[in-house]
Amino acid sequence: MAQFTLPKNSKIAAGTTWPTPAKLHGALTEVRVYRWNPDDGNNPRIDIYQVDRGDCGPMVLDALIWIKNTIDPTLTFRRSCREGICGSCSMNIDGGNTLACTKAMDEIKGAIRIYPLPHMAVVKDLVPDLTNFYAQHATIEPWLQTVSPEPQKEWRQSHEDRGKLDGLYECILCACCTTACPSYWWNSERYLGPAALLQANRWLKDSRDEATGERLDQLEDPFRLYRCHTIMNCANACPKGLNPAKAIAEIKKMMVDRQV
Ligand code: SF4
Ligand code: SF4
Ligand code: FES
Repeated sequence: MAQFTLPKNSKIAAGTTWPTPAKLHGALTEVRVYRWNPDDGNNPRIDIYQVDRGDCGPMVLDALIWIKNTIDPTLTFRRSCREGICGSCSMNIDGGNTLACTKAMDEIKGAIRIYPLPHMAVVKDLVPDLTNFYAQHATIEPWLQTVSPEPQKEWRQSHEDRGKLDGLYECILCACCTTACPSYWWNSERYLGPAALLQANRWLKDSRDEATGERLDQLEDPFRLYRCHTIMNCANACPKGLNPAKAIAEIKKMMVDRQV
């Protein structure tokens, strides 16, 4: 039987176990964090920190910020809004993709394990390279396209038509869904993945948009759309409670409907 092993430089080594802070304000929570620095030539490693819960906010992002401020300033991660809006702090926490700023430490039993989003190249520590992800989002042309003469004021939309965008417009492009999708893992160069396809559906559904046919033409491809096999990992991963698998199924239905 064929045997596969990881390349030597991708095996995760034991890292530093950082000392417990001298002065404590509350209970300790152990946090194990994936570390990798492209500049030192070393393998990735797992560093272990003890977080003083009496001196730290309740969310996993608070723990990372606390570690960076009080123990290890080299720890690298993305974050901005700290309230589930910007999508920057997505990472793999306790085995699932989610936002560090909306994941409470108390939801996790035992040590908190933190890795970058899976199946993406890593820039450093918890920062994944999202270049391809953003490029794929750009291919769906995520803006209003019209041919009608520009109205004097705004492009108007009824309340009912606006409601059709619910469950789509809330996407914050955090990539939790796309990086949880097995089809995307194996075909990330050609399959657009759940986030880009949910966004595609958002523009297909927009009553003001007049490029529906062209948008569907762009998606009519064995890889871009049809690599979704309804495994549903995307819907389970989405921290905003959206359902990309359903959005993809709706696009597939539009493809069929326009042929009859
Ligand atoms: S339902 Fe489709 S997009 Fe979602 S995880 Fe499965 S294959 Fe990926
Ligand atoms: S659908 Fe959900 S998980 Fe996917 S990018 Fe949008 S907000 Fe993130
Ligand atoms: S910091 Fe903005 S979503 Fe978490």
